[in-house]
Amino acid sequence: MALKKGQLVELEIDGIAFGGRGFCRVDGMATFIDGAVPHDRVLARITKKRKSHAEGKAIEILSPSPLRVTPRCRYSGICGGCKWQYLNYDDQLRFKQQHVIEALTHIALLEAVPVHPTLPSEKVFGYRNKMEFSCAKQRWLMPEELGDADVEKGMALGLHVPGTFHKVLDIEQCMLQPDMGNMILRDVRRFIKASPMPVYGLRSHEGFWRFLVLRHSVAEDQWMVNLVTSGEQPEQVHALSDSLRSGYPNIVSVINTIHTGKAGVAIGEYDMLLSGVPSLWERIGPFAFEISANSFFQTNTRGAERLYDTVAAYSGLSGTEQVLDLYCGTGTISIYLAGQAKKVVGMEMVESAVADARRNSFHNGINNCSFISGDIRRILPQLDMHPDVMIIDPPRAGMHADVVQQILATSPERIVYVSCNPATLARDLGLMKDAYDVMEVQPVDMFPHTYHIEAVARLLKS
Ligand SMILES: C[S@@+](CC[C@H](N)C(=O)[O-])C[C@H]1O[C@@H](n2cnc3c(N)ncnc32)[C@H](O)[C@@H]1O
Repeated sequence: MALKKGQLVELEIDGIAFGGRGFCRVDGMATFIDGAVPHDRVLARITKKRKSHAEGKAIEILSPSPLRVTPRCRYSGICGGCKWQYLNYDDQLRFKQQHVIEALTHIALLEAVPVHPTLPSEKVFGYRNKMEFSCAKQRWLMPEELGDADVEKGMALGLHVPGTFHKVLDIEQCMLQPDMGNMILRDVRRFIKASPMPVYGLRSHEGFWRFLVLRHSVAEDQWMVNLVTSGEQPEQVHALSDSLRSGYPNIVSVINTIHTGKAGVAIGEYDMLLSGVPSLWERIGPFAFEISANSFFQTNTRGAERLYDTVAAYSGLSGTEQVLDLYCGTGTISIYLAGQAKKVVGMEMVESAVADARRNSFHNGINNCSFISGDIRRILPQLDMHPDVMIIDPPRAGMHADVVQQILATSPERIVYVSCNPATLARDLGLMKDAYDVMEVQPVDMFPHTYHIEAVARLLKS
């Protein structure tokens, strides 16, 4: 059967592709179906037809897969916050391991590398310590509300429909964050609805209220509320801040970030502290970290500990090694390893993260860590140490080819590569495989109910 765009077809789903979509072949043509899992029989609409593959969306589940479970969340299947809630957690872990294996096999042509079963997240709900909710002038309706003339179509404060910038679901409760976050979310929505200031239009770029960013410290059970607005309206934001602070003793910080630009991101030009303290304190293992409104911090605190324990084990440190921590962010891995190494040097591009890293080392009484700020591509060639061990934790895009060459020239005995993207991990390992043996890879689940996977690879110089 030759597939055509717009066509409705019945399909038997055989596998799952990276990105979370169901996979099958129709007359040999690779076909990716949104909203389907292996062993589903679905009625699907074909939305894209290319020479090499077709894409579609499950319209109806004709016969559900035994891997399906009833999602806890009413927005599951529509919301982009998480896309796999209807998939049994053990199978999520299995598919994540499989994605890492497939990337290593097909992209890096590394077939014999042991990829261990995915380490699960300690919590599978309420695990996120940071959530960003967007404002929109009109909420995106749920399927059951379509056709109801009386349904209220007013503003939304919530999460996006996957792949869209303007379709925002008005979320009452997100299961990925602790429940107090949901109470704060509902109170902020009530306030914004009653406020004389308009919600920011995602197409018109006019209006005031833009994002609500919630951060939670697991260690202290404290919250930071960041109100992102398009300008200053002190009376409004202080009134909201006062009402939140009097309603929730655990909110210790309320910030107002001003973002005048058009980009749909919850960061801005400057921050103002409305009430409380400017940062939260969090712990990973025995270490304390100060997190300000714009600091990068792993979003699953307990998962981060599991990840860093894997990094520590794979580093094989005995106390005598010089360690280079590339893409070190706020220095969390450097600090985690400092007690097991002679010296750790971290490199990171974002100046404020480097300032956080220095402050975090100081607060933890660590005096063998130092940090260099700048683009690694530029600063790595100027390195004046010979590292025994390199930790590499790049962003999703992986490393620039020049950086890979520089690492090969630096030639440490051991490398531990931490990655949130199996495809770029495999690409970069492929570039290093002549000089380094990939001994093993440990996937770690930091993001239950999403297809995202963190993986740690252990490399030894050949
Ligand atoms: C995945 S985060 C790793 C953070 C840290 N290792 C942790 O566990 O919290 C990647 C970091 O790389 C930094 N980064 C991205 N591109 C960079 C570059 N070209 N040079 C230096 N740092 C970069 C980002 O700012 C970010 O902090």
